[in-house]
Amino acid sequence: MAKIFDNITELPSREVVLQTESLVGFESKFNRIYNNLKLLLDQSGLSEWSKKYHQVELPIIYQLKDKYPLIILAGDAGTGKTISATAIADRMTRELKKEGFILKLSTRVRGEGLHGEMGILVNDAFTQLKEQAGKNRLAFLLIDEADAIATTRSTSQMHQEEKAAVNTLIQKIDEIRELNGRAIIFMSTNRLHFIDEAILRRAAIVLEFKRPTKEECIELYQKSLSGITFTNEQLEELAMLSLKKDTDKIGFSFSDIRLKVLPEAVAKAFPHKPLTFDIIKETIESITPSPEIL
Ligand SMILES: Nc1ncnc2c1ncn2[C@@H]1O[C@H](COP(=O)(O)OP(=O)(O)O)[C@@H](O)[C@H]1O
Ligand SMILES: [Mg+2]
Repeated sequence: MAKIFDNITELPSREVVLQTESLVGFESKFNRIYNNLKLLLDQSGLSEWSKKYHQVELPIIYQLKDKYPLIILAGDAGTGKTISATAIADRMTRELKKEGFILKLSTRVRGEGLHGEMGILVNDAFTQLKEQAGKNRLAFLLIDEADAIATTRSTSQMHQEEKAAVNTLIQKIDEIRELNGRAIIFMSTNRLHFIDEAILRRAAIVLEFKRPTKEECIELYQKSLSGITFTNEQLEELAMLSLKKDTDKIGFSFSDIRLKVLPEAVAKAFPHKPLTFDIIKETIESITPSPEIL
């Protein structure tokens, strides 16, 4: 039998926390999601709150209950969608003082699988999710690069089997609501406009991921290189060099800086020289930002 999941991570996880600490801008993203999702995760608490302060159940509560525990993480490649999904799941588990786990639907299986198998895979994934979710155990499912499964059904080239897989997915998202917030689905995508309308409509939140701003670049260099002292002017210069220079160009993604620029700069210094501002600057200038996915 094909392996359904790349891996299962038990939460809370010390390892995930360490990884989360290295992320720039995580707090504000988490807070947005948590503020949105906490209503979904604590439905009886919401009714009690409304009765306590307003004597009635406000109509808005029923609309909130119509939401689905579906979070869409959308944005360009290398902006932190995959890494943030696990970080958010871990943090949510901690905030709610629960235990949990996150399953990642394997992209490999999707690549190999015949179209007809896609529906079966989606089915199996949700079956596992339901089985393992419990009163005190939150179940997270990450469907990474979901556009491979959740593509809009309106495209005419789409095979019947692919349409069936999207339908299955929608049906499973609907069913998961019965778990009253004990199971949460993340979908990541580089191409939000490919995602089926019915799935988009169900999302409790669509969180947008972007390439770093100047301030975020500064923070990223600071975080990654803490221990080396740079002046504010130097940090500013590294950030400016990392941003787009012309209107028709784009700047580095988070992953360009973390996984290309900095390792290459370290390689230039190691093993006989210290890592310096000039080495980093020169490396930035020699690397082209990864192209934007449209
Ligand atoms: N906000 C961030 N702060 C620091 N590093 C980041 C951030 N987002 C992404 N990265 C770096 O980029 C790498 C790729 O991120 P990833 O989550 O795989 O991007 P995506 O799934 O959007 O393509 C991460 O392993 C991490 O090193
Ligand atoms: Mg990714």
